Amino acid sequence: MLDGYAVLIIEESGRMHLLNFKELSGQDITQLVDTALAVKSCPQKYAKSLEGKTATLVFQKTSTRTRVSFEVAMAQMGGHGLFLDWRTTNFMMADLSDEIRYLSRNVDCIMARLLFNADLNKMAAASSVPVINGCDDKYHPSQVLADLVTIKEKKGALLGSRLVYVGVHNNVTNSLIEACTKTGVKIVTVCPIFNEVSRDEELLDEARKSGLWESSLDLKGAVLDTDFVYTDTWVDMEFFTDPSFCKEKEKRVKLMLPYQVNADLLKGTNTHIMHDMPIHRGYEITGDVVEGASSVIYEQAENRLYSAKAILLELIKT
Ligand code: CP
Repeated sequence: MLDGYAVLIIEESGRMHLLNFKELSGQDITQLVDTALAVKSCPQKYAKSLEGKTATLVFQKTSTRTRVSFEVAMAQMGGHGLFLDWRTTNFMMADLSDEIRYLSRNVDCIMARLLFNADLNKMAAASSVPVINGCDDKYHPSQVLADLVTIKEKKGALLGSRLVYVGVHNNVTNSLIEACTKTGVKIVTVCPIFNEVSRDEELLDEARKSGLWESSLDLKGAVLDTDFVYTDTWVDMEFFTDPSFCKEKEKRVKLMLPYQVNADLLKGTNTHIMHDMPIHRGYEITGDVVEGASSVIYEQAENRLYSAKAILLELIKT
């Protein structure tokens, strides 16, 4: 264990992974946020922390921020981030467990962005090194850790902060609900559409018990009394340019347009604007709001780097 870090992440059969926030307490999540902030304020202190270590980054889907943040995080801490594209490696054709059993003999950590949560769990079961979920159909914990870092930076504390998420209920929504309710952030979700593949009733039941999660369709009312308004794409990345999803995309745009984050919605409010990117201007958010004084979107995206560092520091033991 590194000095000053607690063991925070899921422990399964002696291995530690970050697949979602289920096994983490609010204190564990807050500690990760604080580590990210410490790394951000003094990066040189960690410049050799992962010397000689390799994290492999497996992508079955497209990415900019997740890939860049983990790759740069490894480089800036003296280690190596090894990118593996699903389509140009034998992940394409081989048994997933076989490939992972091989990989974990050569690398110190596996970060994976996969289509299906079930495959992420399969990876974790086969791996003898830590596995990090870089976004699947159910969860996106590394994104949400950066979101909490941003909230803490802007408000000074997680406890008592208020966030409204508006959009399709998806993987990010699940991780936001889970992390916010565990760390004392009040979250209201305004989600006229639910991505059924993302549904996790157990997570929602736990959130309900916390008393910190509310679901509403009154967007105007919700944004009047909040510190952060957060939105996300209405169509998951794997479907965005898929012709077979075209009809569903049109249907979603029609249904979701009244829930767009725009100047009219934000009139009379005093709230920070968040978005996990990539942004689709004119759909979930307008360009003027993205560029406006209330937007913390680019700081939020930059915080992916420090959050990635915090996760890697915790999971890759030196
Ligand atoms: N928010 C996010 O995960 O960005 P990328 O899809 O670019 O990695």
